[in-house]
Amino acid sequence: MIQMTSELGASCHYESCLDIQRNLASPKKLPKTAQIRLVSSHDEVYEPCDDSFALVDGLLADRTNLLEHHPTLCMEIGCGSGYVITSLALILGAEGNGVNYIATDINPHAVKVTHETMEAHGINAELILTDIASGLEKRLAGLVDVMVVNPPYVPTPEDEVESEGITS
Ligand SMILES: C[S@@+](CC[C@H](N)C(=O)[O-])C[C@H]1O[C@@H](n2cnc3c(N)ncnc32)[C@H](O)[C@@H]1O
Repeated sequence: MIQMTSELGASCHYESCLDIQRNLASPKKLPKTAQIRLVSSHDEVYEPCDDSFALVDGLLADRTNLLEHHPTLCMEIGCGSGYVITSLALILGAEGNGVNYIATDINPHAVKVTHETMEAHGINAELILTDIASGLEKRLAGLVDVMVVNPPYVPTPEDEVESEGITS
């Protein structure tokens, strides 16, 4: 199984320059990612931020490797707006035909927003309201080929940035 996680805690820029570059500047050369204008939102749902974009960049960079593993089941835990799982499906594209996608979130608004985002991009996935993957363990055991997670994080307080030791 291939695991991709984001380790960035970062400020939010809803309109990403990278997103514009990928989807508008050279649409024929690069696989598409989710379009910000089609990503649904809700006050209580995490909007795509620099960490989400970094994770999608990692998936883009790893596209060939991902396809060489011939994934049949890709999963995201904590899908939020759906930006990442939608991008993954678009990145794998036609070559990833036959791949199934599952995404979970503990926030019911996130599950709804992800559904809207995926629908707006013409992507299908099974969306499940649950804590991490509770209730899915037996069903999914040994079957998940790609797992993506951008876990919740606590921003580092300003006074701890660049300090020595465990707080830095
Ligand atoms: C940092 S956000 C990432 C959202 C999205 N993947 C992205 O990259 O833009 C973390 C997400 O994890 C969800 N989450 C937090 N705890 C969770 C849990 N125990 N099980 C499932 N999802 C959880 C939150 O609701 C939130 O949508």
